[in-house]
Amino acid sequence: MNHKGPDYWRKEAEYIFEQDPACHSVEEAYLYPGLVARQMHQKAREEYLEGNYYQARVISEEGRRTTGIEIHPGAEIGNHFFIDHGMGIVIGETSIIKDRVTMYHGVTLGGVSTDPKSKRHPTIGNDVVIGAGATILGNISIGDGAQVGAGAVVLKDVPAGATAVGVPARIIEK
Ligand SMILES: CC(C)(COP(=O)(O)OP(=O)(O)OC[C@H]1O[C@@H](n2cnc3c(N)ncnc32)[C@H](O)[C@@H]1OP(=O)(O)O)[C@@H](O)C(=O)NCCC(=O)NCCS
Repeated sequence: MNHKGPDYWRKEAEYIFEQDPACHSVEEAYLYPGLVARQMHQKAREEYLEGNYYQARVISEEGRRTTGIEIHPGAEIGNHFFIDHGMGIVIGETSIIKDRVTMYHGVTLGGVSTDPKSKRHPTIGNDVVIGAGATILGNISIGDGAQVGAGAVVLKDVPAGATAVGVPARIIEK
């Protein structure tokens, strides 16, 4: 696993500063709970991949207490993952999040299966925006560039570039 050093996190802080109109400096971006949660996830995942599941959980639970964001150490997370606000986010063990994803507070990437060997959680494509309070369940895919509306409950794949809203979510014509 490639270790992510200060230069990597500098670039991530710069990305937050570019993305968020409410952020007034790169230094401020370092305070974002989303960035802190990702840094802690990085350490937890290193332990997880070494098979140190207890130690990995110690770190991820500390991350949850510190930021209100719960990321399972097994989750695979790409670059420029922008978590805005963050409180109440839950990201399950077999989730995959690709690059330049934006996620607001209260989002759940959850499982519906209890089979420990299966991929139980969603795969989020590049450049996806997931609105506040959205719930995405099961081993489904959100295609590149798709948008998931605030409050949506997504139970089926969302095609690339589509917008999904509602409970259960439907694809809306733009
Ligand atoms: C889904 C979303 C991306 C769509 O934005 P948009 O492309 O500009 O779409 P519009 O606002 O033109 O809405 C299109 C239709 O979808 C409906 N819609 C939009 N967002 C919706 C949502 N979250 N849930 C249910 N319906 C929604 C609108 O009522 C409209 O329906 P209509 O055609 O019957 O009038 C946006 O509404 C959204 O939910 N963004 C999340 C942002 C967020 O969570 N911000 C938190 C910041 S703290």
